[in-house]
Amino acid sequence: MSTLKRSFYVVTLVGFALLSIQCKNEKKADTNITPVEEMKNLVTITKEPFGTTTDSIPVDKFILKNEKGMEISIITYGGIITSWTAPDKNGEYKDIVLGFDSIHKYQMPGVPYFGALIGRFGNRIANAKFSLDGTEYKLAANDGKNHLHGGVKGFDKVVWTASEVLTDSTASLVLTYLSKDMEEGYPGNLETKVTYTLNNDNNLDVVYEATTDKKTVINLTQHSYFNLSGDFSKPILDHEISINADGFLPVDATLIPTGEIKDVTNTPFDFRQAKALGKDIEVKDEQLKRGLGYDHCWVLNNQNQGIRLAASAYNVETGRLLEVFSDEPAIQLYTGNFLDGTLPSKQGGTYAHRTGFCLETQHYPDSPNQKDFPSVVLNPGEKYMTTTSFKFSVK
Ligand code: BGC
Repeated sequence: MSTLKRSFYVVTLVGFALLSIQCKNEKKADTNITPVEEMKNLVTITKEPFGTTTDSIPVDKFILKNEKGMEISIITYGGIITSWTAPDKNGEYKDIVLGFDSIHKYQMPGVPYFGALIGRFGNRIANAKFSLDGTEYKLAANDGKNHLHGGVKGFDKVVWTASEVLTDSTASLVLTYLSKDMEEGYPGNLETKVTYTLNNDNNLDVVYEATTDKKTVINLTQHSYFNLSGDFSKPILDHEISINADGFLPVDATLIPTGEIKDVTNTPFDFRQAKALGKDIEVKDEQLKRGLGYDHCWVLNNQNQGIRLAASAYNVETGRLLEVFSDEPAIQLYTGNFLDGTLPSKQGGTYAHRTGFCLETQHYPDSPNQKDFPSVVLNPGEKYMTTTSFKFSVK
């Protein structure tokens, strides 16, 4: 063979070898794509009608589902999470939030904010009023003389505009609502957006965003009542709760913070080590008496450090573990003390005393009137943005 022929032969051989390696790689890349494609089909959002409100506004229900099988149903009325399934230690998915099966039931008087978005101001504002730059704003007194959870028609009772965003591994529902200037007594047109995102780690992110055209106050939160046993006839007192907080806010007789931040050490409010909700709830304690149980705001540790673990809840029997992460400075633990067996359960029967608990990440209650609390003021040109994540696993 001549040198020329030999080099042609060698080049051709090398060429073939390279081509076949490339083909192999492409094939490999192809096989890599397949699971992603498969996953795409497993993360889904479906939409169905959920009836109409008493003022004839149609309400939709969106079902977010991930590849593991977690399903979260959210309705456009109040951005309410109506059901949310989570696995137990045997992999069995069950609904773990209190709620109803019809819009009519959510509109019954006195429904205690089951699963709803809360705004403009989560929790209480003393004497239903506050001042900004010398102007006094009067709000509805819908909790004795105080204002609670945004007023008579708060964000939990309005119909939000929804859009869906689906990626290979996440399902998001984007809810928007324009709260008009002076709605429920609050100044400023508030453009609000809440994005619920479910991923394949059984994690739900809730991202709250807002802008205003006038100086105002804002404190948005989510009001799901959890019962990790999946059996809503069982009280939640056996759930082991931890709260990453060295202090809590003692309240007066009308549940308004006194302004003091009290050290939790040697009080029933110490949840730094996980303990059952029922362990100290009946202890003779003035604060527990005022709340009829736990209905208090804890001042979280590591403020201004972004998103960190705020609290957890564990149900020993089923192994379900919920971890709540947030960038908010505080969290309200409410043990369903006002549930009294009058509201109908999705599972039949009624919702009895303490069959659900809430972990509401937020700023401190009554902040607009308490100058030493972190500010809840939103100015025009600023963006309100805060994130809370609910992560489920088993232990
Ligand atoms: C409050 C309770 C109130 C409940 C209404 C909670 O966030 O802390 O005092 O009764 O919401 O459902």
